[in-house]
Amino acid sequence: MNQRDRLRIAVQRSGRLSEPCFELLDRCGLSFRRSRDGLFCFGEGEPVDLLLVRDDDIPGLIRQGACDLGIVGRNVVAEGEAGEPARAAPTLQILRDLGFGRCRLSIAMPQASAYGGVAALQGLRIATSYPSLLRTWLDEHAVNAEVVTLSGSVEIAPRLGTADAICDLVQSGATLVANQLREVEVVLESSAVLIGPSVLPSDDRRGAIELLLKRIDGVSRVRGSRLLLLQAAREAVEGIVRALPGSPHPMVLQMDGQPGQVMLQALCADELGWRQLEAIQRAGARELFVLPVERALA
Ligand code: PRP
Ligand code: ZN
Repeated sequence: MNQRDRLRIAVQRSGRLSEPCFELLDRCGLSFRRSRDGLFCFGEGEPVDLLLVRDDDIPGLIRQGACDLGIVGRNVVAEGEAGEPARAAPTLQILRDLGFGRCRLSIAMPQASAYGGVAALQGLRIATSYPSLLRTWLDEHAVNAEVVTLSGSVEIAPRLGTADAICDLVQSGATLVANQLREVEVVLESSAVLIGPSVLPSDDRRGAIELLLKRIDGVSRVRGSRLLLLQAAREAVEGIVRALPGSPHPMVLQMDGQPGQVMLQALCADELGWRQLEAIQRAGARELFVLPVERALA
């Protein structure tokens, strides 16, 4: 393993995961200066730099030691594993599930074509950038179909006549709709993960890895949570707590100079919608505030 004193993380240069990746790293307190060619980001505070690349290249860059960690969809890791001979030792590990970039690798057909189950795929040409995962799925379902490997723009293959169906990532479904395709089978569920080599570096980079993992955990723990602040009469507290989603244990504080009045503070794991807030208000709460929670450290 090559010695380096700065940690290098590979992330997708442009695509579904790029923006949430930068947002996560920003929440982890990492800031960067981007090189003029836009391929490298130099870490300004911590000794952590980024390499901006195609997501499919990330596992290879880690295997070669050119990068220490990477953020990719599970689909990219799974495709690499499906393509490797079974005897090959695992060289990568998933360090954290990052909770964003949820999507499915799905088979889709032109909207007009009938679909009554997997048998309908028999003998079709299916275009994909995930030939190993698709081949494994087809074999498992005893479907004899031709896998057409394309590196990009898979969704236009049926219109071009180079395939009858596709197997590609679906997040919102907008790409399928725009290309008059409909999802018929899910091959794999995926979301973004932080990956690294199965043996992590033990030199100076180790400290930066540990710091990053701890901060990612701090960000993940509060993802989607909200801090609710409100005032109420002490007698109303019981009813208010019942109206809180996810039964959190709130902190109740006596308000100075206002006997019988309390301030209540609760961390709610779920979003607080208007209906829930109105129910909490009906239970006797006043001055309600809902605040986003950015990070936590136990
Ligand atoms: C995927 C996929 C589609 C799009 C689907 O691309 O190839 O183009 O996302 O998303 P939608 O259902 O929200 O429209 P991705 O950004 O992963 O890039 P890549 O396939 O080029 O690696
Ligand atoms: Zn890709």
